[in-house]
Amino acid sequence: MRIDIISVVPDLLESPFNHSIMKRAQSRGLLEVHVHNLRDYTPYKQGQVDDYQYGGGAGMVMMPEPLAILIEKLKEEREYDEIIYMTPDGNLFEQKTANRLSLKNNLMIICGHYKGIDERIRQHFVTMEISIGDYVLSGGELAAAVVVDAIGRLIPGVLNDETSALFDSYQDNLLAPPVYTRPADFRGWVVPEVLLSGDPKKVDAWRHEEALKRTAERRPNLLEGE
Ligand code: ADE
Repeated sequence: MRIDIISVVPDLLESPFNHSIMKRAQSRGLLEVHVHNLRDYTPYKQGQVDDYQYGGGAGMVMMPEPLAILIEKLKEEREYDEIIYMTPDGNLFEQKTANRLSLKNNLMIICGHYKGIDERIRQHFVTMEISIGDYVLSGGELAAAVVVDAIGRLIPGVLNDETSALFDSYQDNLLAPPVYTRPADFRGWVVPEVLLSGDPKKVDAWRHEEALKRTAERRPNLLEGE
């Protein structure tokens, strides 16, 4: 999969994809992330990419022209499955969205700043709008990093243990059960007996039970299939 990210602060995206699983995905040739600095494509002086909003009001808006120039350049080079705009008024990002996007070949992600991007870019280029939660970030970069990470780890071949993503929280509308490692007794706080039993059926049943309990306590809406 190839992901092109459009940003006015590309430095913010230097580190998130260069460690751990995202790094492995790229070194295995399963994921390519390209970050583009929008200022390199503006026809305006001094790298200007934003301007006052029509109708007045505080806050700048990202101008359509630099975005259109860069988006069209990228579209000429390859076909995109989705052109995604990161915005707090987008559709809420969920595991099922990550699952679906992990099967695509080419994604473009536009990071907004200031008051956001000119509406005409949303109407004429953007195919999908994503919010990572009901709060407002100062820009779309951190949200884009979240989305790329969630998608990237699901690309077949990225996780070593192919089954491990299957047991993630949310994958079956359940939160993940508790996990433990050595030592079995830490300061008198002991690991549940069943996990030491060596009986995989019992372990599975316990995990399922704990996942249900945790979900009922913390996110009952998931059990109602909302
Ligand atoms: N940009 C600013 N806030 C955001 C959010 N919550 N999700 C996605 N992009 C954003």
